[in-house]
Amino acid sequence: MITRIFPTLFIFSLVLQACLITMASSLSETITTDASSENNNVTITGKIYTRLRLATKSDLSHIYQLFYQIHAYHNNTHLYKATESSLANLLFKENPLPLFYGPSVLLLEVSPTPFNEPTNEGFKPVLTTFDLKFPVVEGQVEEFRSKYDDKSDVYIAGYAFFYVNYSCFSDKPGFYFESLYFRESYRKLGMGSLLFGTVASIAANNGFVSVEGIVAVWNKKSYDFYVNMGVEIFDEFRYGKLHGENLQKYL
Ligand SMILES: *[C@@H]1O[C@H](CO)[C@@H](O)[C@H](O)[C@H]1NC(C)=O
Ligand SMILES: *[C@@H]1O[C@H](CO)[C@@H](O)[C@H](O)[C@H]1NC(C)=O
Ligand SMILES: *[C@@H]1O[C@H](CO)[C@@H](O)[C@H](O)[C@H]1NC(C)=O
Repeated sequence: MITRIFPTLFIFSLVLQACLITMASSLSETITTDASSENNNVTITGKIYTRLRLATKSDLSHIYQLFYQIHAYHNNTHLYKATESSLANLLFKENPLPLFYGPSVLLLEVSPTPFNEPTNEGFKPVLTTFDLKFPVVEGQVEEFRSKYDDKSDVYIAGYAFFYVNYSCFSDKPGFYFESLYFRESYRKLGMGSLLFGTVASIAANNGFVSVEGIVAVWNKKSYDFYVNMGVEIFDEFRYGKLHGENLQKYL
């Protein structure tokens, strides 16, 4: 369990508009899937086992669905243009950059039973457990069953997405923390600090100078979460973006 967040410089700039970082909330979003899922919901009580690991190409369909869900959370599924294949091009290049230098997705998996001890594979998966105050229902057993190994009672609960970034103000790279998302069943369990804390720990242990990103001001829970994790918020910057038609003017 990652409890130590090594001293690291966190720089989060402040934005007034909706952004991609999402924490505990009570929206009920499910991606449309075929109606064939039977009543095989899995209810987990008492204790839940978690494994946090780097996503691989075999996770594409799950990442695709989670990215869809975060669009739904922000009411902008109409902007979701990705396909599994375009996401594969984005996230899992044939000649990938060194570990953590390309786009990195950490996936949080849950299971009612213990995970096997992970093997060292670049980033060693983090195993931990959470005591549950209330039962957790995995209501999309087939859709979110992990394809990572042959343990069949593993479900994808959420992700953190980050990548390396550079600045003229530092001679070392930092991480841009792009988004954090949990499927509804797995919110309010305290798993956010595991994800963010793990990214911070990866940064601190590998010579990255910062973990930074955008905190949505309207999302108080998310905002307070990042502040509690040690993130410093800068009021003197506003988030800027050149996109859409305005970018196309530069064609
Ligand atoms: C999405 O729409 C719902 C229903 O109109 C609203 O309650 C919610 O605040 C919206 N979410 C965001 C992130 O704008
Ligand atoms: C199974 O979970 C789904 C999604 O959470 C829910 O809609 C459905 O009612 C659940 N079925 C049972 C039998 O609890
Ligand atoms: C990372 O990117 C942000 C902009 O997103 C920039 O302000 C910051 O200086 C960059 N930091 C590093 C260490 O690359």
